[in-house]
Amino acid sequence: MKPYVYITRKLPENVVKSLQEKYEVNMWDHEEIPVPKEILLTEAKKAAALLTVLADTIDESILTAGENLKVVANLAVGFDNIDLNTANREGIAICNTPDVLTDTTADLTFGLLMTVARRIVEAAEFVKEGKWESWSPLLLAGHDVHHKTLGIVGMGSIGETVAKRATGFDMNILYHNRSRKPEAEAKLGAVYVSFDELVEKSDFIVCLTPLTSETRNLFTRAVFKRMKPSAIFINASRGPVVNEQALYDALAAKEIAGAGLDVFEKEPIGANHPLLKLTNVVALPHIGSSSVETRTTMMELCLENIKAVLEGNNPKTLVNREWLSFMKA
Ligand code: GLV
Repeated sequence: MKPYVYITRKLPENVVKSLQEKYEVNMWDHEEIPVPKEILLTEAKKAAALLTVLADTIDESILTAGENLKVVANLAVGFDNIDLNTANREGIAICNTPDVLTDTTADLTFGLLMTVARRIVEAAEFVKEGKWESWSPLLLAGHDVHHKTLGIVGMGSIGETVAKRATGFDMNILYHNRSRKPEAEAKLGAVYVSFDELVEKSDFIVCLTPLTSETRNLFTRAVFKRMKPSAIFINASRGPVVNEQALYDALAAKEIAGAGLDVFEKEPIGANHPLLKLTNVVALPHIGSSSVETRTTMMELCLENIKAVLEGNNPKTLVNREWLSFMKA
């Protein structure tokens, strides 16, 4: 019997074709509706591999549903939706899709920064709504980006790539990270500072840190209060890093000037979300890595990782190195 692979979202047939030669493959039939937990549990019971997305909660019940599960390939660089402790205990390889999405996500992050700074969405809506009557000296005047100070919280490869974009805009670059990045300092002129200093000195605060127990609720009301009143806050990492009520209050009280958000505490958000009522907020539906090229490459990397593990090899992008000791045992 061929090993069973379950894919939790509908992916293009031509991408999954290569998997179907060796494995029995089944796929949830919707692109935008998440697979219900009961179905995922039933599928996980039979599966040797799961290809998951960040909206799936891969908890202990899923990881221990069956006897055969060897690998979970998550279509994302982040893996906060997966219970790593259980995966380590059960000897299940967890894989993600780093590197291949770095440039694309940095492009979106920098684009979001520019969009908020220059009020591009507001301006486009203004024209569409027929409100443009004449040129006027301060019509939709925004904030400059060039020569300003960018503060990056979370200087992983996406952070470094955003910093690289910023050098083209002659920005001063500050960063805060768990560890210093001497190469980024030398190459990009990025300056390491404490979190507090970054928050106080930056014109643009860009959050790119993964969601962990240390970063959950990192941006509180007290943090927003320390920012400049002209500061623009960008979040392209995970929603729960930010206290959303605190962000709303800071924006509504004009303690900061604007926000660009690709991620939210609870996704998806509906049209009635309070942050959407604010004109100085640009909200996107978690599309950081969403270019056709990059999403296709991410899918292919997931398939490659699944094949590697099912064939007894090391996957290309393994999250839990603890799994390697299971391999050797
Ligand atoms: C997207 O948020 C990802 O983690 O790839």
